[in-house]
Amino acid sequence: MRETVTVDLPGRAYEVRIGPGLIRHAGAEIAPLLKRPRVAIITDETVAALHLGTLRDGLAAAGVASDALSLPPGEATKSWGPLEQCVDWLLEAQVERGDVVVAFGGGVIGDLVGFAAAILRRGVRFVQIPTSLLAQVDSSVGGKTGINAAQGKNLIGAFHQPSLVLADTEVLGTLTPRDFLAGYGEVVKYGLLGDAEFFGWLERQGPALAAGDQAARIEAVHRSVQMKADIVTRDETEQGDRALLNLGHTFGHALEAATGYSDRLLHGEGVAVGCALAFELSARMGLCSQEDPSRVRAHLKDMGMKTDLTDIPGDLPGPDALMDLMAQDKKVVQGQLRFILARGIGEAFITSDVPRDMVRRVLADGLEV
Ligand code: GLY
Repeated sequence: MRETVTVDLPGRAYEVRIGPGLIRHAGAEIAPLLKRPRVAIITDETVAALHLGTLRDGLAAAGVASDALSLPPGEATKSWGPLEQCVDWLLEAQVERGDVVVAFGGGVIGDLVGFAAAILRRGVRFVQIPTSLLAQVDSSVGGKTGINAAQGKNLIGAFHQPSLVLADTEVLGTLTPRDFLAGYGEVVKYGLLGDAEFFGWLERQGPALAAGDQAARIEAVHRSVQMKADIVTRDETEQGDRALLNLGHTFGHALEAATGYSDRLLHGEGVAVGCALAFELSARMGLCSQEDPSRVRAHLKDMGMKTDLTDIPGDLPGPDALMDLMAQDKKVVQGQLRFILARGIGEAFITSDVPRDMVRRVLADGLEV
């Protein structure tokens, strides 16, 4: 079973192939892109221990030689030091302008390696092989690459589209349930932002999907990637519609910052809690019905996910401090914070017209202060 989505950007169109066994057959998938039969793989130590042997064997089976660099796992790897290490290693490995670099891992590796490929010799091609659900449905598609700065996340980077994405749904079986569900937060986001029917399907299929149903996993990744591809094709550099993909992220990023980007709250968990808050705010502003936030929360709870601010372990700062963190978001335009709100499930829109008091009230009520 295999699905393919095309990201149809003029002159840079590429396929996202979704299904089981793509890593084992990576050689056959990637070989047609190559000018000479060799690739440079950058991964992290966790993914390397589980899957690097399979990938290299899969490449070798099609006569493709590979070099590999493994970096420490975790968000700290998305920074200047590891970027320099990647670029130096790629130069040492004599990766040429016509070669292909493979980013093999979750969102951290995809963003870092994509950026290294963007700046190496003024740009070499790269293939994304995302190994987390979050990376398969979001970060590996659409060409956002980069690293974090001391001043905030993702502040240094470039748009650099991959030449191919191989989303092997079999590897999702090696994720911890927590990591899987964090990625599922981004899947729910797609239903909430633009497809009520998909959200209904997730309400019905979510438990089977989390339990390991392959067909349901493929369908969920396929539908998510198709929505992302459509949005990216319309608005590659986020002048408009692409910001819809940030549903739940304005609240989510503030919560991630408040918890020190630690294990207390994973990115996808922050997005899920953020989506629930965005619907609550939308309902209070009279934009959607009161049933909508209840339905969002009920599904997250059904899936055993963090849903409310009180589900985040440890103390959180008060509503004013959270509002200050939101104001540092990089989506601030001319001092105005942009929110993604909703007129209903599947009907998100972008607005700067949000009363401060109302945001504060939603946070204060959620924090039970
Ligand atoms: N993750 C949001 C985007 O790719 O635009």
